[in-house]
This record gives sequence, C-alpha cells and structure tokens, in this order.
Amino acid sequence: MERKKQAQPSLFRILVVDDAEDAREVIHTHLEDAGYMVRTCASVAEALLAVESSVFDIIITDLRMPKASGLELIQHVRNTLEDIEVMMITGYPSIEGAIEAIKTGAEHYLPKPFTERELLEAVRAIVEKLVRKRLAHGQSISGQTYGIVGESAAMQHVFKLIDKAGDNTATVQISGESGTGKELVARAIHYVGKRRSSPFVSVNCTAIPENLIESELFGHVKGAFTGAGTARSGFFEIADGGTLFLDEIGDASLAMQGKLLRAIQEKAIYKVGSSRPLHIDTRLICATNKNLKQLIEKGLFREDLYYRINVIDISLPPLREREDDLLLLMNHFRAKFAKDTGRPAPFFSDEALRQLMLYHWPGNVRELENLVQKLVLICEGDTIELVDLPSTLKPAVGVGKRLDRSLAEYEAEYIHEVLGSVHGNKTKAAAILKIDRKTLREKISNRYQKNEIKS
Ligand SMILES: Nc1ncnc2c1ncn2[C@@H]1O[C@H](COP(=O)(O)OP(=O)(O)OP(=O)(O)O)[C@@H](O)[C@H]1O
Ligand SMILES: [Mg+2]
Repeated sequence: MERKKQAQPSLFRILVVDDAEDAREVIHTHLEDAGYMVRTCASVAEALLAVESSVFDIIITDLRMPKASGLELIQHVRNTLEDIEVMMITGYPSIEGAIEAIKTGAEHYLPKPFTERELLEAVRAIVEKLVRKRLAHGQSISGQTYGIVGESAAMQHVFKLIDKAGDNTATVQISGESGTGKELVARAIHYVGKRRSSPFVSVNCTAIPENLIESELFGHVKGAFTGAGTARSGFFEIADGGTLFLDEIGDASLAMQGKLLRAIQEKAIYKVGSSRPLHIDTRLICATNKNLKQLIEKGLFREDLYYRINVIDISLPPLREREDDLLLLMNHFRAKFAKDTGRPAPFFSDEALRQLMLYHWPGNVRELENLVQKLVLICEGDTIELVDLPSTLKPAVGVGKRLDRSLAEYEAEYIHEVLGSVHGNKTKAAAILKIDRKTLREKISNRYQKNEIKS
C-alpha cells in the first residue's frame, strides 16, 4: 500500500546524490517521512547545478558514480560553500574510500547497506552538529528569530509562551484563524527546545483516511493486515524524541480522537498487529482554527481529549487585531521579497498604505505575505501605488472595507487571482499560496463544484 506523504518539511534541506534510482528513492522517502526537505540528483553534474541554485544544509552523496565521483562533489562544496555538511555513502566500503572521503572533507560516512534507522541516526547527528554550530555563531536556526515577526502585546505574550513551552514537554494547543501563524509557532516551540535536533513531524488530521488512522499514527507489524508486507513505523514513532504536530485537530474524527487520547494517557502506543506497548517520547502540539469548546458542545470533540491537549494554550489573534504588527509585517515581507528580485525594496505610497491598514485581512498573515510578494514582484518603479492594489482591497464607493464576504468566497476569489497571475500553473500557484498541490487541486475542484472559481 502506498504511504501517503504527510510528514512536512523541517527547516533542514538535504540534497541526495546517487546514480542508482532505487537507492535514491529509498533515502528520499525515509528522509521525507522524517520531515526533512529533500531533493535528489542522479549525477554530480546535476548536483553541482542544484547547489548553485538552491541552499542546502546537508548533502548525502554516493561515492562511486559513472562520470564524476562523489569526491569531486565534496571537493567543490568544500571549496565554495561553508556551513554545509556532507555525508558519503558507498556500496563498496573500503577503508581507502572512507579515508579519502574524510580527507576531501566529507565529515560523515555511512557504508551501504544501511537501515532506515541507521540513516536517520546519522542524519540526526549531523543536524545536531549544524544546530550547535549555528547557535554558536549567533545565527538562529531559520535565519530569523523563530521567523516570527511581531511586537504587539498579543505577540509578546505568544513569544513568552513559546519560550515556556520550549522548556518542557507539555502538550500545546494552538488556536487561531487560518493564516495567523499556527504552524510557525509550532515549529518555533520545537526548534527553541531541546528536541530541535529530532524530527518535527507535521500531520494534517483531515488527511488520514479513516481505515488507516491506527497504522498511520502507530505503525504496524509485518502481516498485520492484507497488504502489510513489511513492518512500518507510524507518525508517533517517527517523531520519537521530537515533536508531532497534529494540524487541524478540530477536524479529527471521533475514532481518531479516541486513539489519540489513549496514546496520551498511556504514554505508549500499540502497533497494529501487536499487543506490546511501545513507550515513546513524542511531544504533541495540536492546532486548529475551529472553536473546540463549541465542538465539544455539539458532541464533535471529546472533552477529555480537550483537557489533555490544552495544557499550554496559545491563541493567535487575527491580524486585524494586531495593528501594531501590520506595518512591521509589511516591511518584513517587502524586504524579504525584494531580496529575491535583487532590486531595492519598493515603498508604499501613503494612499496604498492607508488602504492596506484599513483592510480587514480575512486571510491574515498568509494573505498579507502573498499580497506583498505579488506587489513587490510586479512593481516597476520604487513605489507601490494605490492603483497597484487588487480590486478586492480598493475602497468600494463609500465603503472602506468589505465585511460582507465569507472566507470561502474570499479564498476562491484569491485562488482564482493567483492562478491567473501564473497563467494557470498549479505548481507555481501552490508555491505562492504556500499550500501543497494536492490541497490546491482539492480546493479548486471543491470550488468548481460550487462554481466559485472560473478559469
Ligand atoms: N508573525 C509572523 N511573522 C512572519 N511570518 C508569518 C507570521 N505569521 C504567519 N506568517 C507566515 O504566514 C504564512 C501562514 O502561516 P502558518 O502556515 O503558520 O498559518 P496557520 O495558522 O498554520 O494557517 P492555517 O490555519 O491556514 O493552516 C506562513 O508563510 C508564515 O510564514
Ligand atoms: Mg497551518
């Protein structure tokens, strides 16, 4: 059975170079399941192009490949790039090869064949080293302090809670409207605490099919059910020592809620097909944009689970209630996206700024980020004018802000606009919207059914 890809990228980017497709894919799958961002290349030539155009934290390369060998790649990386760790893997383990690899600058060496566990342990050790190195140089892990911008009283309070949560393993519940930064906060809690060098595994509760809940969460033993040809770890086990982020917990089915509650209460999981409890040390962070208390009243959310996950409660206010942060965020995104264009960051005209301040931001920070990105990209002069703003933001006659549209309507319209701006290219649209292509496809097909997106 195909495993659905639900673990989402951690902040560490890994390049895997191997001419053997099978090996490449196995490593790719293991690393991606563990939450890393992974890119693969089949040759040194391809890898050299990749390291020039993108940033990686770790390179895992095979030694023997046709044409150029892994040693050439290592040499190149050592001469041109700092702050990147290289691990050599090889199917012909020889002392000479290992010595040569280390001499050339591959600090890490993993002989083939290796198990998933051996691979992940080796990578984890490298990540730990990178984290230590970067902290020692005063860099924060993501290039910014948690990557979270905000000075409002509400956000100051959130930062305090992140610090507090980082210190311990209590379950955290993050609530807030869509696009307010819930996932960002979850990652910050993980990376600020001791668990930072272990995986951060992000799982969307709505993405797990009902009949697979148990095996996806807890794993299964070989032969547990038809199609279970091999044993497999579940998300709890993959995130052992690290953090399991359960996104959209408010949408978890009652069956899933029951299973989660048991795992939390017993601090142990049972793999499907096994009666042996497996003790795991996985920190849970849950997020939702729903009101769980209301769901409890309607009988859709278990009250006992609510109290278990709500030990530390972080609530992210909508952007319209964070006026102090709005300018700060606009400036932050303005500078961030200008960097990508290589031009100086454009300014906002007073009228444009006023309009942006008046707007009610139903899509919160995500909407602001996407808008500023678009404005910076299309801006030709040094100022973003009122006319550059999309019509949804411009004042309707006599009305400063529109407060009459549903979020679904707004979203459909916005998706439509973004798709238009990239000529219908879904990969590009998904990248701008910062959702994956599958989610985009689902949103489009939902809306098509309701006739809300026409393109
Ligand atoms: N305070 C902030 N500073 C900088 N970037 C932010 C901030 N808040 C949110 N963002 C950015 O806005 C986007 C949306 O944030 P995130 O995905 O964390 O929101 P969310 O609450 O999980 O949304 P959803 O409910 O839709 O899943 C991301 O690109 C994130 O980096
Ligand atoms: Mg989210």
